[in-house]
Amino acid sequence: MTEPEGRSTVVSKDLQNVLHPVVPHRQLETEPMVIVEGRGSTVVEADGTEYLDGMAGLWCVNIGYGRTELADVAAKQMRALPYYPHTAINQPAAALAERVNGLLGGDNHVYFVASGSEANEAGFKIARQYMKHEHPGQYRYKTISRYLGYHGTTLATLASGGMGDRKQKFEPLSGNDFVHVAPPYCYRCPFGLKYPSCELACVKNIESTIQGEGPDTVATVLIEPVMSAVGVAVPPDEYLPEVAAIAKKFGCLLHIDEVINGFGRTGAMFAHQHYGVRPDMVSIAKGIVSAYLPIAATVVRNHVFQSFVGEPSENRQVFQISTYGGHPVAAAVANRNIEIILEEKLVERSAQNGAYLLEGLRTLLKHPCVGDVRGKGLLAGIELVKDRQTKEAVPADRIKGVVDFARKNGVLVGRSGGGRHLGNCIVLSPPLVITRPEIDRIVAVLDKAIEELGAQLGAS
Ligand SMILES: Cc1ncc(COP(=O)(O)O)c(C=O)c1O
Repeated sequence: MTEPEGRSTVVSKDLQNVLHPVVPHRQLETEPMVIVEGRGSTVVEADGTEYLDGMAGLWCVNIGYGRTELADVAAKQMRALPYYPHTAINQPAAALAERVNGLLGGDNHVYFVASGSEANEAGFKIARQYMKHEHPGQYRYKTISRYLGYHGTTLATLASGGMGDRKQKFEPLSGNDFVHVAPPYCYRCPFGLKYPSCELACVKNIESTIQGEGPDTVATVLIEPVMSAVGVAVPPDEYLPEVAAIAKKFGCLLHIDEVINGFGRTGAMFAHQHYGVRPDMVSIAKGIVSAYLPIAATVVRNHVFQSFVGEPSENRQVFQISTYGGHPVAAAVANRNIEIILEEKLVERSAQNGAYLLEGLRTLLKHPCVGDVRGKGLLAGIELVKDRQTKEAVPADRIKGVVDFARKNGVLVGRSGGGRHLGNCIVLSPPLVITRPEIDRIVAVLDKAIEELGAQLGAS
């Protein structure tokens, strides 16, 4: 084993050789962060600084950092079988599929991939193939999804998403196969209405859009139950059941994106389970393995699976493959990760400590620039405004100031997407193992950061 390199060597090697995602290169030059280890909800910088990670990495390290037993599970599986394509059968992936199927209520089959984007993309393709099999006279290929949603980084998942800032450098994206509808973003209702007198205009918008497009062209309705990237938009309780009923009425598959929401994040194992719906397809990633290795999946109900069952001559099988799909090492680690979530009752803990976090964050409403605080489980958003009446958004550079202030005070928080969008929310998605004193610390640091922001806004 070679000696670990010093921090400055790592930084210079990186800056000379790595092309990073999303973060501006110049920012990395001035504020490089080299994370070397983690335990629980804390990560450690190479210079020794400890940070409380209010984002669980990228909304994903659900069981927290430093679970060395997962390294043992990976090493054991790697010694036995590091890899074999999933055109054959392997034990860890079979066990993981059984477990996931059970958690999703049974009656499913699981298609494994390596990332959340791939899980959604595979869902679009499975739905299109299913429609070709089941409705040969129709041409059902469209996905109905929401403005302000995020479903991944590939061209098709970007097209399905509704975050203009993430799309603008790549447009034009695909044609009319992704059709957008208004999101259930009640704080800034796209129809200017108020719940409940709105009578869920956003759901009616889905119905009229499907009718307008022609139901025999629509394959799926894609929904992330609690919208994360926009700043955590929690829908009214009736929203998802009503959307599910519309999808059913028009013969479209209901495709639920649980990439962030799943595995306890919102205080249920899966967020759609809060609302009593049974989707036709579910995309899962992140929390399935707490990001210790890359693995994800598209889970389909058995009535969809049946469409892919047949003799070789019938050519009904799934017409796609991902090299790393069903990876035995990632699957073995995911199995143990889910056992830990169950053994340590992390879903229940997310519900309880999520309520505690929300209560703490609501105290921040004392600051005039906090327009809204919302969340479900350990997924929360704080919307920052210059004026509560007009809801004018705090500009993006000021939001960065809040994130930077928190970081300087040892707490990592996230922010909603910017660009064409307002980007004026602070978001939180800590490891599900976070403790109440750690939650108190996040709230206290944000209190100071927002007080500072308020002073700046008053002065500007
Ligand atoms: C709701 C949602 N779906 C899909 C994705 C894409 O997942 P990945 O980055 O693993 O491709 C993300 C990523 O954050 C997401 O938030």
